[in-house]
Amino acid sequence: MNVPNAGGPLNARSLRARTSMSPETRLHLAAHPFAYPLMRLLARLGPVVRVPGLGVVVNDAATARRVLMDGRFRKDGPGSPGDLWTPVLGPSVLLNMEGEPHAALRAKLAPLFTPSSVAALVADVLAEPLEELRVRLAKGDTVDLVDEMRLLAGAVICRAVGLGEVSAARARRLFADGERVVSMVSLRTRRLSPRQAAVAREVLDGIGDIAQAAYDAGDPATVMGRMRELGLSAAEARGAAGAFFLTGTETVATFVPRLVALLHDHDISDVDLDRAIEEAMRVTTPTPVMLRSVARPVRVGRVLASPGDRVVIVTHNCARAYGPFDPSRPHPPELRRLWFGAGPHFCIGYPLALAEIRAVARVVLERPVEVVSRRAARGVLLPTYERLLVRAA
Ligand code: HEM
Repeated sequence: MNVPNAGGPLNARSLRARTSMSPETRLHLAAHPFAYPLMRLLARLGPVVRVPGLGVVVNDAATARRVLMDGRFRKDGPGSPGDLWTPVLGPSVLLNMEGEPHAALRAKLAPLFTPSSVAALVADVLAEPLEELRVRLAKGDTVDLVDEMRLLAGAVICRAVGLGEVSAARARRLFADGERVVSMVSLRTRRLSPRQAAVAREVLDGIGDIAQAAYDAGDPATVMGRMRELGLSAAEARGAAGAFFLTGTETVATFVPRLVALLHDHDISDVDLDRAIEEAMRVTTPTPVMLRSVARPVRVGRVLASPGDRVVIVTHNCARAYGPFDPSRPHPPELRRLWFGAGPHFCIGYPLALAEIRAVARVVLERPVEVVSRRAARGVLLPTYERLLVRAA
């Protein structure tokens, strides 16, 4: 991969000349101008620190993994992510459940995410748009990878929640709706305001209605039809569709442009794709934090957490402690895929995310590409480019 040759406002060479700040750091600062510097400062204060108003902050991968594997840290208590999403998604959507009901729902959903299920979904939805992308890049067109990913990740989720053939406009609109809901949340948000909850509910009711119609139709060739076949109730299927929509669209879409930019900025062209993806996941940590609540006194490293405390695992700090982007370096066991969580709540969509990312990255990185220009997005929860123009080098 070559260094950029165009003088866009934020191309890597001009950036390096003007400042030592990496493009990745710029993305974080654009998304969270106040919280990001604070978050990075906290990393220097130790593996676990109590921060008034924020909670017990974990900056260390081994401690984070212990918390995630320990049932005393919950996603359904006061101050947990459940507080945030239950009013909008309902009480039973994996990410706000614990214990036996959580394990039972996960077991029912597991067959949807086997390698063969996700491969079929991705091939079915993405074959055509990816072929178009391949042709455009081969012709030497300049492509906005951010917009392209909105379309591709939006299309996969549209299909997963029950839409049949999806127009590009529909996929983009769905992506924008999701972004609007996710961006209501900041690091300090504990509850959505009534107005925010109303907007979120409207968007998610729309998703629920699409899911319900596909569930009622019961075609086992569709994800919702399979859910019915697998024994999920209509309410569970609606909730799962909402959860997939909220968690599975922006995460994937924001990652691919960051992966391509990282490879470009480090002048890496000849690398095993899976290693590059894993290492770019470590450096970018698409979801920078994970939250848990505490129901009774429990130690987190050297800090005693009390009932009502919120534990904020700063995945980004945990992962960044292992140095700059370097796909040739293996990850130690404590770090293993921490960016997808660990333990009972480990990302159920991991196989789908990886299948989507691999499929797009294979097409984009088929030949050396250069980043022509880029701009960081503001006012978003997940740091991302607003625009990343690439073309064949
Ligand atoms: C790059 C892409 C993705 C990343 C980085 C990511 C990250 C994560 C993380 C860190 C968790 C655990 C959170 C915690 O323990 O607090 C999680 C859970 C989850 N993810 Fe993903 N995710 C991605 C893509 C997807 C996709 C494509 C889907 C589905 C279609 C999905 C669905 C879910 C669901 C439903 C959960 C909740 C699981 C549970 O609580 O049992 N994710 N994800």
